Amino acid sequence: MGRFSMRQFAKKAVDKELLFKAVELASKTPSVCNRQCYHAHIFSGKEQSKAVLSYQLGNRGFGDQVDSVLVVSADLSCFFSASERNKAWIDGGLFAMSLMYSLHSLGLGCCPLNWSVSPERDQALKNATGISNSHSIIMMTACGHLKDEFTVAKSKRKPGGELCTIVNNKVAFSKI
Ligand SMILES: Cc1cc2nc3c(=O)[nH]c(=O)nc-3n(C[C@H](O)[C@H](O)[C@H](O)COP(=O)(O)O)c2cc1C
Repeated sequence: MGRFSMRQFAKKAVDKELLFKAVELASKTPSVCNRQCYHAHIFSGKEQSKAVLSYQLGNRGFGDQVDSVLVVSADLSCFFSASERNKAWIDGGLFAMSLMYSLHSLGLGCCPLNWSVSPERDQALKNATGISNSHSIIMMTACGHLKDEFTVAKSKRKPGGELCTIVNNKVAFSKI
């Protein structure tokens, strides 16, 4: 519960081993039929990170401090029918969350980054990075070491009662 989106990072480089460790921890993420469609593309170091972030539209003001970027994607070849059309987003999203908690548990800071882009921008990133066209990009996370002192945005949350409903009506058994 101590995680915050981090938008300030120390200058210290992140060891790739730490990033591998985070992916290893996140591999415990459940997935449909345990197919593990999810994947993290690791861009390590400031130069690589800056280049990848030049395609992303929500890192203005802090992108230049980011040491590493992890682009989470889902391999669509894991799925076989139209009824599975949402699974890449679900499994990929679950993995992305696990990855952020894993990075946090290893003492790193991270900030989820949206991939709400045009098809042209999506293709441009794939062309530039070699991410396969059989993958859907789910989101990115920026990552880096924490500074000794930093500030975070404390984002207010809705109370739990507003986020759930106890369903009391009698539910009919399925006839489908
Ligand atoms: C899928 C996703 C995309 C996000 N994209 C961005 C982004 O592009 N830039 C940014 O600064 N924050 C981004 N955020 C971070 C949210 O603003 C943040 O999670 C929210 O305000 C709650 O704050 P917290 O993460 O500190 O609890 C994103 C979060 C999610 C889950």
